[in-house]
Amino acid sequence: MTATLIDGKAIAAKVRAEVAEGVERLVAERGIRPGLAAVLVGDNPASHTYVRMKRKACAEVGIESFGFELPATASQHEVESLVRDLNARDDVHGILVQLPLPAGLDEEAVLSAVGLNKDVDGFHPMNMGRLAQKGREPLFVPATPAGCIRLLEETGVKLSGANAVVLGRSNIVGMPVALLLVRQDATVTICHSRTKNLPDVVRSADVLIAAVGRAQMVKGDWIKPGAVVIDVGTNRVDDPSAKSGSRLVGDVDFDQAVGVAGAITPVPGGVGPMTIAMLLQNTLRAAQNSA
Ligand code: GUN
Repeated sequence: MTATLIDGKAIAAKVRAEVAEGVERLVAERGIRPGLAAVLVGDNPASHTYVRMKRKACAEVGIESFGFELPATASQHEVESLVRDLNARDDVHGILVQLPLPAGLDEEAVLSAVGLNKDVDGFHPMNMGRLAQKGREPLFVPATPAGCIRLLEETGVKLSGANAVVLGRSNIVGMPVALLLVRQDATVTICHSRTKNLPDVVRSADVLIAAVGRAQMVKGDWIKPGAVVIDVGTNRVDDPSAKSGSRLVGDVDFDQAVGVAGAITPVPGGVGPMTIAMLLQNTLRAAQNSA
């Protein structure tokens, strides 16, 4: 058996086209062009690349983006002041603070300074808290977890009653995606470095979300035949046969898993493109809400 490939690139393109249409309508009907402010502190090269990609994607759907760079030596007060200034701007509908912040800065305090109505990353403790509470609705859902759920929806996966296993418990992916799965009535197990008999637990999954950041950790014989596998990992590994000398792989051993799973996301081209598409969708929603 060979798994169906879940084409994140194509699904992300569909989301981006929906956003572009929504932006056009908001500009035409209300004279409001959505604006996203990207705050980048320090010189983490990966963070610079991500912010560049996000700003380019904004331009492609008609969202205005504003870049703000602070040095790694910026004080807590400087970062929070910038965020507060952005909260007050009418042309900024969404604020994203690229993570991780340099050591020494209080991430929770910075994220708490983002206005709830502009929290397009969904990382404000209030939005995360609402995500965890029955009967409450966050204003925004974090982009990567939302992208995972959209991929499952587009694939026609029934989540109600399914056994879902989430590998990883980060604030950015593992925990919020687990909460979203619970909201879809899945039975959810969250695994981490202390989980016992990990391969056995993973083998119980009808739906597996791998978000641990360990290259090719999940082997083919960990996967239940026919399971749906969403691989959030993007790990760079040496590959002498590649021109650059390296290539990206997921947290799942794709070559093994593709023979066992029912459906699987590739890396690259699976979850990655969805993250940016869902951020654009959140930014459009923030601007619509402001109208
Ligand atoms: N760092 C890794 N993923 C993300 C994300 O989705 N948003 C922000 N702001 N920082 C990140």
